[in-house]
Amino acid sequence: MSDDPIRSAVCEAAVLSHEGRGAGYRLLRLSAPAVAAAAAPGQFVHLRVPALEASALRRPFSICDADPATGTLSVLYKQVGRGTAAMAALAPGDRVDLMGPLGRGFPLPPPAAAPLLVGGGYGVAPLYFLARTILRGRPDAAPHLFVGGRTASDLLLLDEFRALGVAVHPATNDGSLGERGLVTIPLDAFLRAAGPSDGKPVLYACGPSPMLRALDERALAGGFPAWLSLDRRMACGVGACCGCAQKARGPDGAVRVAMVCSDGPVFPQGSIVWD
Ligand SMILES: Cc1cc2nc3c(=O)[nH]c(=O)nc-3n(C[C@H](O)[C@H](O)[C@H](O)COP(=O)(O)OP(=O)(O)OC[C@H]3O[C@@H](n4cnc5c(N)ncnc54)[C@H](O)[C@@H]3O)c2cc1C
Ligand code: FES
Repeated sequence: MSDDPIRSAVCEAAVLSHEGRGAGYRLLRLSAPAVAAAAAPGQFVHLRVPALEASALRRPFSICDADPATGTLSVLYKQVGRGTAAMAALAPGDRVDLMGPLGRGFPLPPPAAAPLLVGGGYGVAPLYFLARTILRGRPDAAPHLFVGGRTASDLLLLDEFRALGVAVHPATNDGSLGERGLVTIPLDAFLRAAGPSDGKPVLYACGPSPMLRALDERALAGGFPAWLSLDRRMACGVGACCGCAQKARGPDGAVRVAMVCSDGPVFPQGSIVWD
């Protein structure tokens, strides 16, 4: 576990709204002023799922957006198992037990860098919060989003990204939206076409491990930074149980065991030891 203090709290959050977003995805908006005030893009919340037995583990979800002014935050989730199935029954006015914000998020891009966001499935969730935060500090930043999924209904929040002014480059395995194939197809085309006046790219990515690994390799080969958000099963969420151990290289090149929940979930290019 990192030595740095992590500003986090356990609180009860009230459900404000809960909307379906395509096949099996939902956007849950919560009132959680303390968490919303402290949250940074790339951090996550650890949610105790109501209707599961008290001994059940919390479930981690990226913060998709947080607004300190209104005290609200949202998570975008996919129903995959019994915890997320129980969450699907939440209705406005229900209360959930929330721990957060947790983990180390995305560092903001340096001035004049070109932020390239790459997401797969619900991996767009932390990238939306990141895009909003970047644009608040640098309205001229013009981020690009490269977003991939199996089919069009797996590409989420596209209208919301466009409304921010983010250029969206979709790819789907079945060709139902954007390029047919992996998200690296439009990304590689963009990187090939980019000139010096476009600024040095900085990749920010969240999605399946094979995608993150492919981006890590591109960043190392191209000599530009990348920040990769890992998705691991978690238990305590605060670095205490070793349940999310990941081999990672430190700045000195030495391989150590990192905890994804407290040393990550965001790691720089070249640091993850891919199995
Ligand atoms: C830092 C972090 C951020 C995350 N952010 C989001 C998010 O924004 N939206 C979202 O929908 N999900 C997110 N997840 C994944 C989410 O935590 C799991 O999908 C959820 O815990 C599954 O709970 P369940 O009880 O429904 O599934 P379970 O019944 O526990 O498992 C059902 C299936 O999902 C698989 N699974 C469970 N957890 C994970 C995981 N972490 N990664 C991959 N497969 C898993 C299991 O192996 C099993 O096949 C995040 C995970 C981490 C670590
Ligand atoms: S989940 Fe316990 S150390 Fe990360």
